[in-house]
Amino acid sequence: MKLWAGRFQKETDQKTNDFNSSISFDSRMAREDIEGSIAHAAMLGACGVIDKDEAGKICIGLEQILRDLESGALQIDPSAEDIHTFIEGELTQRLGDAGKRLHTARSRNDQVALDVRLYLRKQCDALSGQLRDLTQVLCKKAAGYAEAVMPGYTHLQRAQPITFGHHLMAYAEMFLRDLDRLRDARKRMNFCPLGSGALAGTTYPLDRGMTASLLGFDGPTHNSLDGVSDRDFCMELAAAVAITMVHLSRFSEEIILWCSWEFKFIELDDAFSTGSSIMPQKKNPDIAELVRGKAGRVIGGLTALLTMMKGLPLAYNKDMQEDKEAVFDAVDTLSMCLTAFVPMVETMKVLPENMRRAAARGFINATDCADYLVGKGLPFRDAYKVTGSLVAYCIEHGRTLEDLPLETYQAFHPLFGEDVYEAISLERCVNGRKVLGGPAPENVRAESERVLALLSAC
Ligand code: ARG
Repeated sequence: MKLWAGRFQKETDQKTNDFNSSISFDSRMAREDIEGSIAHAAMLGACGVIDKDEAGKICIGLEQILRDLESGALQIDPSAEDIHTFIEGELTQRLGDAGKRLHTARSRNDQVALDVRLYLRKQCDALSGQLRDLTQVLCKKAAGYAEAVMPGYTHLQRAQPITFGHHLMAYAEMFLRDLDRLRDARKRMNFCPLGSGALAGTTYPLDRGMTASLLGFDGPTHNSLDGVSDRDFCMELAAAVAITMVHLSRFSEEIILWCSWEFKFIELDDAFSTGSSIMPQKKNPDIAELVRGKAGRVIGGLTALLTMMKGLPLAYNKDMQEDKEAVFDAVDTLSMCLTAFVPMVETMKVLPENMRRAAARGFINATDCADYLVGKGLPFRDAYKVTGSLVAYCIEHGRTLEDLPLETYQAFHPLFGEDVYEAISLERCVNGRKVLGGPAPENVRAESERVLALLSAC
């Protein structure tokens, strides 16, 4: 029996019913729907809108339904229109008239806006925990490899020497901001729309502040139209999740490169790699590739949400039922990715000798060579030119800056002295970059500690 059966003469067409139904994807909010209804019933009872004893019965009935759902004693009916209808119907079957009073002063429009907020709020917290774990793993690893010299790249060309620890801390910074974005999204979604009704509030004397505080919100929403039609909180969370996925995809791409034979900076643990069905030598970074690939579907989910909301008139429109699959998939995907990604990073074997070897080729100390001349009094532009000619000479003669004899240096500029070799040593290049945010090992260790402290404070 449909909720609206009084107004209609015919049953809904069967296939249309399936098309219209959201139960296949909103039943995951059963717990939140029940929590919301319990708060609503308690408030109705406290305000005298319904009888206090009946309110009590409703709450007990709802708790029993939740227990039955969790134990499997109660199965969700897949032909119900949505989880809200199903739970209210079940309650009415169990309690009769008391069950029928639950929906007083409420619409599914404010109910669904509430349920999604309650559900996503929990997801925000769970994702924050996973991201915190990842950032912690990165900080600890970074401190362990604070001295591991590796080439830093621009345009994927060897550019200047950095350390592996410094590189990892770059990702820690990104994930720290992602955490902040999640926290921000949670903060803005944490207002209770219940009491907005279908769109125009209600004539019943509700205590909206009571429902809001029972459900752990910072307060009620302040406009009934906005309360039922706002999906900013879905878009904002999906955007935060999409940005995190973009960060994970960049990290994944580097992991994929690093474990190729061309780089061999790391080796993934067997437990987080896969083999080939035909090529016996293969060890593939499938997890990192999947994470890189899944960034696409999350960006797709965000795009779906934004385009679904674009141009929608106030207040509720059924289009908005589409919010759930997009944002749930985004959240699920990030969570699954992190579940595999965190231990993959934690267990990866780092090969600092290979990083060091790669750093020793490609003239990544050329800037330091120029800076050496600057230290001797030459203007930077002239020093840059001299060093450029030196590099060209080395390339032509198959030499490196380190093994060039002093006479050759001096033929390019008389200011070169024996101390040039020390000035361009990779360790010196890295250790000297002590500027705030630079890759000097002491900086990396301090940054790792700073971020770890931030994490334990939040
Ligand atoms: N299943 C609906 C949704 O997800 C619930 C709200 C339905 N409201 C309505 N007036 N049809 O959006």
